[in-house]
Amino acid sequence: MERAAAGEVDYLALCTAVDLPVAIGGVDYRAVPGAGTLWQLAVLPALQSCGLGTLLVRAAEDRIRSRGLGRAELGVEESNPRARALYERLGYVAYDRQPDAWEEQAPDGSIRTYETMCTLMRKDLLR
Ligand SMILES: CC(C)(COP(=O)(O)OP(=O)(O)OC[C@H]1O[C@@H](n2cnc3c(N)ncnc32)[C@H](O)[C@@H]1OP(=O)(O)O)[C@@H](O)C(=O)NCCC(=O)NCCS
Repeated sequence: MERAAAGEVDYLALCTAVDLPVAIGGVDYRAVPGAGTLWQLAVLPALQSCGLGTLLVRAAEDRIRSRGLGRAELGVEESNPRARALYERLGYVAYDRQPDAWEEQAPDGSIRTYETMCTLMRKDLLR
């Protein structure tokens, strides 16, 4: 939220009529020069496959365009073919792969580093 206030990122949430967030995702404008990088996209499991992810990606692309940028980027784990298929359907093209890692909470409550391999994808928003 601090980064959003500083203008480095946009953070979006799709909410119900009573303001419950059911889908979230961000756009990072610092990760790749000249592009907006989509990250942390997630839809409440019970509401997946209803089109909310598509809405969120399109809203994120509108934010990127409104900053005068013409490219969207994202990384998707190689173990997540369904998300990759969604991005391909929305016009994203794979161009490289890259290891990534982040902290996560283990079932016993301890914090551990999760390591994974991601496919890098991008989309030209000016076409
Ligand atoms: C990946 C994710 C963000 C996609 O969001 P979503 O809301 O499920 O995506 P959509 O509903 O827009 O599209 C996905 C599916 O719904 C279908 N769909 C899209 N619009 C639809 C509509 N109006 N009615 C019915 N089905 C629809 C699509 O055909 C697609 O089919 P699939 O379930 O076989 O993949 C979400 O599934 C998620 O949070 N997954 C767990 C976290 C994760 O993997 N995040 C991605 C990190 S890169």
